[in-house]
Amino acid sequence: MNRNLLSINDLSREEIESVLGTAAKDFLELSKRDIKKVPTLRGRTIINLFYEKSTRTSTSFELAGKRLSADVVNVRAGSSAAGKGESLKDTTLTLNAYRPDIIVLRHPHVGAPAFVSRYTGAHVINAGDGKGEHPTQCLLDIFSLQREFGDLKGLKVAIVGDVLHSRVARSNISGFKKMGMKVILVAPPSLLPRGVESLGAKVAHSLDALAGMDVIYLLRMQRERHEGANYLPSMREYISNYCVGRRHVAKGQRVLHPGPINRGVEIESALADSEENMILQQVEAGLAVRMAVLYRIIVDNAVPLAAGEAEVRNIQAVG
Ligand code: CP
Repeated sequence: MNRNLLSINDLSREEIESVLGTAAKDFLELSKRDIKKVPTLRGRTIINLFYEKSTRTSTSFELAGKRLSADVVNVRAGSSAAGKGESLKDTTLTLNAYRPDIIVLRHPHVGAPAFVSRYTGAHVINAGDGKGEHPTQCLLDIFSLQREFGDLKGLKVAIVGDVLHSRVARSNISGFKKMGMKVILVAPPSLLPRGVESLGAKVAHSLDALAGMDVIYLLRMQRERHEGANYLPSMREYISNYCVGRRHVAKGQRVLHPGPINRGVEIESALADSEENMILQQVEAGLAVRMAVLYRIIVDNAVPLAAGEAEVRNIQAVG
């Protein structure tokens, strides 16, 4: 891995396979043991800095760090000095003074993780930046699909819903294509980004396009990012045209959603409660994948020690 994980495009297909191999081989089974902790990152410090609400990403990064025995500090913007007007630069410089090894950042502005990486020596992991990217969500989705389907080459996936405001869609279009999948976006024209063709995915405006897909990937309607603009003539019309229910899902098709779900908006309640969806498998995968990311970002970037140097450093640390 590179020293930071800001975009899914920081990883080649081979690197994705390698990180997910670590998740599968070393960390997936750990959650099922009585004792779930390993000493792998003992003595390392991870700061989870979240400027936006989160349940899955924040919980899994916190658990991942703790299960690897790192010292984990969680900073929520609402209860930090950011609420007193401190800039992102000054917060970063402040936290950097504690010499963390990794900063995991969620922020409402696209590019915030890249900005933070300019002011810290820590590895920076993008845990979601506005409409930008969510690379670890993409990794856990690929991981979940590989567990379900094996090789993903040639698999057809429809990404359905509010593509315009979705960082998950941006990361997943790239990530799925890297893995050889064929991607189609299904949304009303007003919820697709301008120049959507440049993302390299086909486009459709009706759920009829779900026929023949292997995977139906639903997106949350991100009303908090609509900022008063009228992207839809009416929510009722959107629901009637784009809310996916069990009748839209054929035998063998699997349904994914990054969460949180809006029942009755993008997914009907009966589908959310059915075994056709993989939503909780995605959540489970998120922990193993984020453990692998934390571990690999440290190990892959470690400066090799000269012979005998490790011993000397240990003595100095004790002394
Ligand atoms: N999928 C996802 O990012 O969920 P959270 O907002 O709960 O972290």
